[in-house]
Amino acid sequence: MFALTPTKTLSASPLLSHLQNPNPKSSVRPQCSRSPPQISPSSCNSQLLTESGLEFEAGDTFFRHESATGRDLGVLAACLYRNSYGRLRVLDAMCGCGVRSLRYLAEAEADFVLANDANDDYRSVIEGNLSRVLDEEGRCTVVSNDANRVMTECYLRRDFFDLIDVDSFGSDSTFLRSAFNCLKLGGLLYITSTDGYSSGGHRPHHSLAAYGAYVRPMPYSNEIGLRMLIGGAVREASVLGYRVTPLFSYYSYHGPVFRVMLQVTRGKLPDSRHYGFISYCTRCGNSQSYSWDELGQLSCPCNDGKDSSSLVISGPLWTGPLHCASYLSDMLKMAEQRGWVGDGRGSDLEKLLLLMLDESDPRLHFGYIKLDEVASRAKINSPPLRVMMSALHKEGYAVSRSHIASNAIKTDSSMATCIRIAKGLQQC
Ligand SMILES: C[S@@+](CC[C@H](N)C(=O)[O-])C[C@H]1O[C@@H](n2cnc3c(N)ncnc32)[C@H](O)[C@@H]1O
Ligand SMILES: [Zn+2]
Repeated sequence: MFALTPTKTLSASPLLSHLQNPNPKSSVRPQCSRSPPQISPSSCNSQLLTESGLEFEAGDTFFRHESATGRDLGVLAACLYRNSYGRLRVLDAMCGCGVRSLRYLAEAEADFVLANDANDDYRSVIEGNLSRVLDEEGRCTVVSNDANRVMTECYLRRDFFDLIDVDSFGSDSTFLRSAFNCLKLGGLLYITSTDGYSSGGHRPHHSLAAYGAYVRPMPYSNEIGLRMLIGGAVREASVLGYRVTPLFSYYSYHGPVFRVMLQVTRGKLPDSRHYGFISYCTRCGNSQSYSWDELGQLSCPCNDGKDSSSLVISGPLWTGPLHCASYLSDMLKMAEQRGWVGDGRGSDLEKLLLLMLDESDPRLHFGYIKLDEVASRAKINSPPLRVMMSALHKEGYAVSRSHIASNAIKTDSSMATCIRIAKGLQQC
């Protein structure tokens, strides 16, 4: 049914590749039993599990039910790609038990999936799961190797993919170059970071090494995590003469996990306005973005432009749109076609896609304003979210909720305006 014994080079043992690899970042990461405490795999046994109506086993692999929404989004993108291009070859570079590969095969009707996980012990679980949906020879190959090695060998063989899914841990960005190299032009790269310390600004030298961004603590750090990840991909893509466009960006607090789906085309950085620096003023709570050539002029209007000691600056980061609105509309339609909206899981997915669509309003600024921060600066109780949003609308501002933070707004108004409006509401 599928190639159980791939080419010799691809089937080399992960232990061997680890020993031979001079780069410690490319080594095999811990399995679920040795995971950091914030990651709690929901299954480390051989029970039959179900996701999206498909049965599979997790065995002793790293598997989390909570990541199902991230997988749903990946499958929707894969379905859209297949509809547009009439073909779909997927490389699932860190497949765990193979649940994504299973879903790309069964739901997105992928022509071919290369399912890889460096942990050779997972192989029988992956093969068992994929054999459940394979009716044709050659639709799937399972390999057990370091993702960088697999992707580099694909590139050298000129074996290119339409969608590459790299579900990595932490802030591993070592695979970006090899993933770009074996992706078709116009193809999709679905990448992940789970490094909440870096996005929270607690390891600026680490984020600098991983994504080229010096990240400091900011109130909208979870959006910064997405911008850090996209920015890292922008930088790496530009080395190769590619440009990336975020189709959607998804933050999930389980983990936390930052996921972005990027479309990769040939070309330069589209617009340097989208790759720059972000400042947050601790004195007044205002945020601004700066292009590279504005770096000598950093100051906040709250201090008559005198000094910048109240400014916390992070970057360079992606400062452009987190999502492509028309793409999200297509994802929503695809979810409807598949019967994924409505009750249960469907309503959550629908809510998420609608929230992301709201966030795509091009007038909205980067970041979000937490209503608790507005309340604390205004020295009042936190205003109700809906009331605050409608008051901002009435004054002509663009405003939406954020899929990242439940009690926060995205808007094109300033913190000072939010404080004024919130105080007004308190008096009513
Ligand atoms: C987050 S888990 C994958 C979960 C899976 N994609 C899912 O949706 O259930 C990350 C996987 O990457 C594997 N891994 C870690 N480092 C790797 C590397 N350098 N190359 C390939 N696989 C690796 C781990 O064994 C682990 O199974
Ligand atoms: Zn200020």
